Amino acid sequence: MRLPVPTELSDYAEKLIRGRRATRAFRPEAVPDDTMRAIFSLAGAAPSNSNAQPWRVEVASGATRERLADALRAAHAEHRTSADFAYSEDMYAPVHQARRAAFGAGLYGALGIGPDDHATRAAYDAESLRFYGAPHAAFLFVTGDGGPRLAADVGAYLQTLLLAMTAYGVASCPQGLLSFYADTVRAELGLTEGKLLVGVSFGYADESAPVNHVTTERAPLEEVTTFHGQARSRRSREAG
Ligand SMILES: Cc1cc2nc3c(=O)[nH]c(=O)nc-3n(C[C@H](O)[C@H](O)[C@H](O)COP(=O)(O)O)c2cc1C
Repeated sequence: MRLPVPTELSDYAEKLIRGRRATRAFRPEAVPDDTMRAIFSLAGAAPSNSNAQPWRVEVASGATRERLADALRAAHAEHRTSADFAYSEDMYAPVHQARRAAFGAGLYGALGIGPDDHATRAAYDAESLRFYGAPHAAFLFVTGDGGPRLAADVGAYLQTLLLAMTAYGVASCPQGLLSFYADTVRAELGLTEGKLLVGVSFGYADESAPVNHVTTERAPLEEVTTFHGQARSRRSREAG
């Protein structure tokens, strides 16, 4: 197969997009204010339907972050969940479940937690409500009616934010788990509006932590992508 000629930009894109990964152990140093502003300004360049930009972003640091972590742990201990977006294990197809299982085996394997040790897994997940030790957490809210089309725009913002962080040397972990405590987040941050889609813990990676060296696979291109109407099929190209 003939490969496209790489450009300077495509080289950067390969590095940036493939260089991002979920980080689950952080050093305590804060991200400087100017870096923070550069990252969130860049993330605001994300695309959205009709450029509506239906996101609202709240960033918790310092004493606010501490208070919020305590409140999230308390809500978890008291089973006070409040998800703005419905969640069900049934939403996943069998192929999704297989990918999730492979991911879980890799993650918990790196942590030395056995596949049947449900108690230790649950404790690890509960502890992640402290943002995996990250000094900052961003909360991405969907504004307007918070419907699926607007949530998709906030999904585009999420990936743009993660890449902006990567570009500035800042590590991150998107955490859907944080969205299960939407009322707690709103109460602690004094918010009355918006549906909480996801939280993002971020800071500088602790590279010495084995959990930060977990790798994840992706489905092969052909499994998830079909190119319709191409003049020549791959087989005929390969045949010359
Ligand atoms: C919307 C969303 C929610 C996620 N929620 C969590 C979470 O609650 N806890 C966690 O540790 N990782 C979470 N992740 C990280 C995924 O597990 C991770 O992105 C995936 O396994 C692929 O690995 P990679 O990001 O290192 O490429 C989430 C990712 C996304 C995009």
